[in-house]
Amino acid sequence: MKATASANANIALIKYWGKRNEELILPQNSSVSVTLEGLKTVTTVDFDKKYKKDNFTLNGKKISGEPFERIAGFLNIIRKMAGSGLKAKIFSKNFFPTATGLASSSAGGATLALASSKAIGLDLNKKGLSLLARRNSGSASRSIEAGFVEWEKGEKEDGTDSFGKQVCDKDYWPEFRIIAGVLNEEEKKTKSRPGMKQSVQTCPFYKVWVENSEKQAKQIKKFILEKKFTKLGELAENNALMLHSVMFNTILPIVYFSEKTVEMIKAVRKWRASGLECYFTIDAGPQVKIICLEKDIPEIKRKLKGIKAIKKIYICKPGDGARLINKHLF
Ligand code: DP6
Repeated sequence: MKATASANANIALIKYWGKRNEELILPQNSSVSVTLEGLKTVTTVDFDKKYKKDNFTLNGKKISGEPFERIAGFLNIIRKMAGSGLKAKIFSKNFFPTATGLASSSAGGATLALASSKAIGLDLNKKGLSLLARRNSGSASRSIEAGFVEWEKGEKEDGTDSFGKQVCDKDYWPEFRIIAGVLNEEEKKTKSRPGMKQSVQTCPFYKVWVENSEKQAKQIKKFILEKKFTKLGELAENNALMLHSVMFNTILPIVYFSEKTVEMIKAVRKWRASGLECYFTIDAGPQVKIICLEKDIPEIKRKLKGIKAIKKIYICKPGDGARLINKHLF
């Protein structure tokens, strides 16, 4: 059967970086994100006996090698759950740049969990879908739900308590915005998966990162629910800088920053000092995302026009979670 799902990427305010179980994709610390309207992926999955082997096409390109093996491994999990031996054909399309630190794996993993579970005949609830999406990519567990989402790290060894839970829906704080500025559309060099593994193994203060992020995840949920924007922005910025300190102090060092990243950080701080309230967050790529409120968008847009390094911007408000749609990609 064929099914198609649409999901939005999420950007973490408190980041996930490091696993305690590689196979089950269980994180070392809890993380909190916003699912963003407009950073969308659509995926169609068809399980049928006419397919002799699995095949996967992303943005019109047939995928092989390690990225394909990851998808095939995920399909094996689904097949086991459904007791099926059927092979699948998958088409996926990102409506924003792939693998540039704009969290394409989160939207992709969420659509894959929803479309493939439906296509194979499983009827999973949100928790089941998030648990499944997590097996594809950790951050995907947070894109099943709309709005602000916490991925609790969980305690259980089997991972059944490690999934994305909604903190509040997308309409709870409609003025909240994240501006993603694309600085460089080249694919990143160090992928998150091996990168975070190296950090767990070699960063001398990795444990501090885990304890601190765990605390910050609790704090930020409170700031979201109380709509305390200043406190939220300061905390998110601090967490992002700590993440990149961990990356810098990994052997070999992981440096996602480019000169343009530093230029953007300085610009945001300068704007803030002059009374324009905005904060930054940065993931596994050079892009700087600006956290702000709707009222300040015109002024921030005006200022961003003056920065030549920015090729394109996406202004995103809290968005929908993963959902099934009728328009198939093939
Ligand atoms: C820096 O979810 O892509 O974006 O679980 O290995 O697939 P895997 O990693 P992934 O890592 C995302 C890391 C991050 C921070 C975050 O989104 O929390």
